[in-house]
Amino acid sequence: MTTTAPTTPPTTLSKTPTMAPVARGSFLLGSAVDLRRDMLGACKQAFHTYGDVVRFRVGPPGLRREICLVFHPDAAHRVLAGNWTNYRKDNIFYGEIRRAFGDGLLTSQDDDWQRQKRFLQPMFTPRRVAGYAATMSEQVDQLVARWRPRPAGTVDLNDEMTSLSLRVVCRILFGDDVDRALPVVQQAFGPLGEEVRRRGLAPFRPPMSWPTGGNLRLLRAQRALYGVCDEIIAGRRTAGHRTGEADLIGLLLDARDNGGTLSAAEVRDQVLIFLLAGHETTSTALTYTLHLLGRHPNVQDRVREEADAAGNDTTKLAYTEMVLKEAMRLYPSAPLMGRLTVADDEICGYHIPAGTDIITAPWVTHRHPQFWDEPERFDPDRFTPEREKTRHRYAWFPFGGGPRSCIGQHFSMLESMIALAGLTREFTFTTPAGEPSYTNHITLRPTGPVPILVKPRTR
Ligand code: HEM
Repeated sequence: MTTTAPTTPPTTLSKTPTMAPVARGSFLLGSAVDLRRDMLGACKQAFHTYGDVVRFRVGPPGLRREICLVFHPDAAHRVLAGNWTNYRKDNIFYGEIRRAFGDGLLTSQDDDWQRQKRFLQPMFTPRRVAGYAATMSEQVDQLVARWRPRPAGTVDLNDEMTSLSLRVVCRILFGDDVDRALPVVQQAFGPLGEEVRRRGLAPFRPPMSWPTGGNLRLLRAQRALYGVCDEIIAGRRTAGHRTGEADLIGLLLDARDNGGTLSAAEVRDQVLIFLLAGHETTSTALTYTLHLLGRHPNVQDRVREEADAAGNDTTKLAYTEMVLKEAMRLYPSAPLMGRLTVADDEICGYHIPAGTDIITAPWVTHRHPQFWDEPERFDPDRFTPEREKTRHRYAWFPFGGGPRSCIGQHFSMLESMIALAGLTREFTFTTPAGEPSYTNHITLRPTGPVPILVKPRTR
C-alpha cells in the first residue's frame, strides 16, 4: 500500500488540455439509466473501467448534462480545500435543498455563509459538544430501557437508529419544546427529503407554482415544518427566554456577532439544516456500524470490553472510535458531494472546464486500492493513530474537507460512541447473513429494514 501526501495543486494549466474519459452509456439517455438504477454502483464501476476522473453524460440529446466524477484523494483535496472557492454549491442538488430547507449553514455561500459560521462555530466547540453528552446518554438509556425487558428478538436497525438520532437532535435543538416539534418533524421530514431527491434527479423540474402532486407534497411538508419551528421561536422570543438556555434554539437566539443577532427566519433556517444534516447521517453511521458489529463478533467483544472499562468516560473509547471510522469508510453517510465549477481548472492532469458539475465520491475514494489494502474488508485496525498519520488526508473524508467541512463532526462522533458503548454494554448483536441494502437518498440510506438479533446480556 502506498502512502502519499497531498500533492501541491498545480498553479498553471497545461497548454493542451486533456479531457477525462466519458463513461459509455446508451445513445438515447447516456448514463441516465445506470445512474438512476444504482448511482453508487455505477460510480464504482466507472472508476474501475476509466480511472480517477470520469465524465458521465446524462439525459437525451438536447437536454444532456455532463457530470464529472473524481475519485483520487488529490482531486477531493483540490475541490474541497486546495481550490475550494472555484467549486460552488450552485448545482441542482444544493439548489433543491435550499428551496426545501431554507438557506442555513449547509447551503449558504459567500458573506451569508461567513456570517452564519461566525454565529454557529461557538456552538460546536469541543467543550460545548461535550455538554450535549448527557442528553445523548439519556436518549440511549431510554432505548436500552425499552429493549432490556424483552426476550432476544430481531429489531430493524434502520428504524431504531433513525428514531434515536432524531430524538437526540430534536432534544438538543428544541429542549423542553421537543414534544411539540417531534411529531411534526417525524411526519414532514421524509416527504420533504423525498421530493428533494426526486427533483434533484429529474431531467425536468416543474416550477413550484405548478400544482403537481410532488410540488403540493413538498409545499405541505414545508409549511408544517416551518410552522412548528416558527411557533417555537416566536414563543421563546415573546416569553423572553432565559439567557444561556441549554438548547440550541436558545443559543441561536442569544448568539451575538459584533452586537448583531440572527433574525427569526435565520434561526429557523439553521434549525432545519441541523435537522437535515444531523439526523439521518448519524443514524446511517450507527445502523451500518451495528450491522458490522453483528457480523464481526470479535470486534464486538472488544468494543464491549472497552465500554465496560470506560464507564461514562467517552475519552476512553479509542477502539470504538476506530470501529466507527472503519464503518464510515465502507458506508459513508454522504457518499457523494457535488459542486459547480466556476473557472477552468486541472485535476489529476485532466482539464475541468468552467461550468462543469463535479462530484467527489467518498464511496469510491474510501475503496481506492492505492490507499486501502483489500478495500472491501472490515478492519478497524486501519485506524490506529499511527496508520492514520501516514495516510493521505483525503483518502478518508466522510465529513468533507476544507472550509465547508462538517461542523457537526464531533457532535456526531460523540453521539455514535455513546450509543455504541451504551448498547454493547447491555446487549449482544447478531446480524443475519447477507449485505444490507443501501441507496443514495440525499444521504446514504438503507432501502429497507436492516434486521439484527438483539439479546440482553446476562451478567
Ligand atoms: C455521521 C454524521 C455526519 C456526517 C457523515 C456528515 C457529513 C457532512 C459532510 C460530508 C459535509 C460537507 C458537505 C459538502 O461539502 O458538500 C457536512 C456539512 C455540514 N454538516 Fe454534517 N455530517 C454529519 C453529522 C452532522 C451533524 C450531527 C450536524 C449538526 C448537528 C451536521 C451539520 C452540518 C452542517 C451545518 C454542515 C455545513 C457546514 C458548512 O458548510 O460550513 N452534520 N456534513
